[in-house]
Amino acid sequence: MPVSEHFRTPQLSRRSLLTALALAPIAAVGCSSGSSAPAPTGSRPLPIPPLAAATVQDGVRRFTLRAGAGETEMLPGKRTPTWGYNGTVLGPTLRARRGESVAVTVNNTLPEMTTLHWHGMHVPPRMDGGPYQPIEPGGTWSPTWTINQQAATLWYHPHPHGSTEKHVYRGLSGFFLLDDDAADGLDLPNDYGVDDIPLVIQDRRFTPDGALDESDPTNAGLLGDTIVTNGIAHAHLNVRTSRLRLRILNGSSGRVYNLGFTDGREFQLIATDGGLLAAPITRNRIQVSPGERVEIVVRFDSNAPTTLHSFPIENRGTLPAAEATTFGFDDAFDILEIRPAEGMKSAAALPSSLIPITRLATPGTPVDHSFELQWFMINRARMDMNRIDFTVQVDTTEVWTVRNVDNWPHNFHIHDVQFQIIAIDGTPPPPELAGWKDTVFTPPGPTFTLAMRFTDHSDPSYPYMFHCHLLLHEDRGMMGQFLVLAPGQQPAPAQMPMSGMGPGAMSHH
Ligand code: C2O
Ligand code: CU
Ligand code: CU
Repeated sequence: MPVSEHFRTPQLSRRSLLTALALAPIAAVGCSSGSSAPAPTGSRPLPIPPLAAATVQDGVRRFTLRAGAGETEMLPGKRTPTWGYNGTVLGPTLRARRGESVAVTVNNTLPEMTTLHWHGMHVPPRMDGGPYQPIEPGGTWSPTWTINQQAATLWYHPHPHGSTEKHVYRGLSGFFLLDDDAADGLDLPNDYGVDDIPLVIQDRRFTPDGALDESDPTNAGLLGDTIVTNGIAHAHLNVRTSRLRLRILNGSSGRVYNLGFTDGREFQLIATDGGLLAAPITRNRIQVSPGERVEIVVRFDSNAPTTLHSFPIENRGTLPAAEATTFGFDDAFDILEIRPAEGMKSAAALPSSLIPITRLATPGTPVDHSFELQWFMINRARMDMNRIDFTVQVDTTEVWTVRNVDNWPHNFHIHDVQFQIIAIDGTPPPPELAGWKDTVFTPPGPTFTLAMRFTDHSDPSYPYMFHCHLLLHEDRGMMGQFLVLAPGQQPAPAQMPMSGMGPGAMSHH
């Protein structure tokens, strides 16, 4: 299939273009200070994804998401065909509280099957939105579940087997923020769009006419040369508060970022994938691999601007130099220029402790399952929807080891749970990896020991996935599946119709 056919989308309506452009005024409401210096050519205010409208009825919070095609001004003055939820790119931010039930109606107006997965969410397997919950074109899927996990920055994205990279690359993803009383009780910036900013970082390549370039993927997948933040290139953020919380999502296909500021300033890391850390950690760099989230708080004591930047990757394990280059580990990018307003009061200190974390296991705990990552495979097997790789018993602590025995970088994501890294090569993890995680970067070499608990949602028919979150790797089969069973329950795997599913949906595979 020629590349141009990838973007043969239905006739674009004038309305869909306007929806895309409407992102900018939304940002202005949330973030503009109105008093900063004129933007350098091409720089635009960071769009803030709108909070999704919800109705609450009989204790159920209801959202509607519609996946569809449109055009977005990702580059100034260019119309880029993109896919989005309730708009032309990305999606609204869903927000719910621990204890609430949520119901989401997902409509697919795309020309092909998609799914919608709640990354990081503790959710029954039938509601997980992985490859077992296809939404055909014109179809609707209506998952419902109860939020039972701590406050966290989660996200949602498509998960159609074999086509996840394409769907995410074209623009499908959004934030899902969870709140709880414990997090509300802490003095942290939490005014959405003002001092609490969701920031999805993605890399894209564009053709000369401004279309997304899906040609020539490397073993890292579609590695871009242009950074887009919240859907646009060359964004800046006007800040009016002396403390700024950034909820950062690496929404890229295959690129790892090593984030810091161009002026070397320190920031505080307060949360990882599954929620707040036990205490803030002061750093001047933090690494995020695809699918991972970090929350940082940055202080502004003057109006000196700074730029969030990605530095060459330091944590490489035994990655050979040539592969490091292929995977973009030597690259550096400006991510987001930050322009503080004048005359801000100096910032209040953050709380010295956040949310206690009870350790699930110690480094010596016996291992239940071990995984070796190599060349699009886990334990020398590719994903097969007709093969359940293993089962786990509900509400028991599982200890897994993961080792990248490849000469490529990978990471490891588990559905349904937040896990703890209890050891790296037998040694307790550094503080930035000691909190709740659902995705861990695994450079070649070290063995990661993870502990987790599948507290409920046993289901003999529908599995959960574990996989590398470099999306090309996942699409090519670097994924497996497991069932969570009640004591005595026997597996009865769901039979899936395979038409239209499976690797190979992108022509370059
Ligand atoms: Cu974010 Cu199985 O994925
Ligand atoms: Cu996931
Ligand atoms: Cu991988």
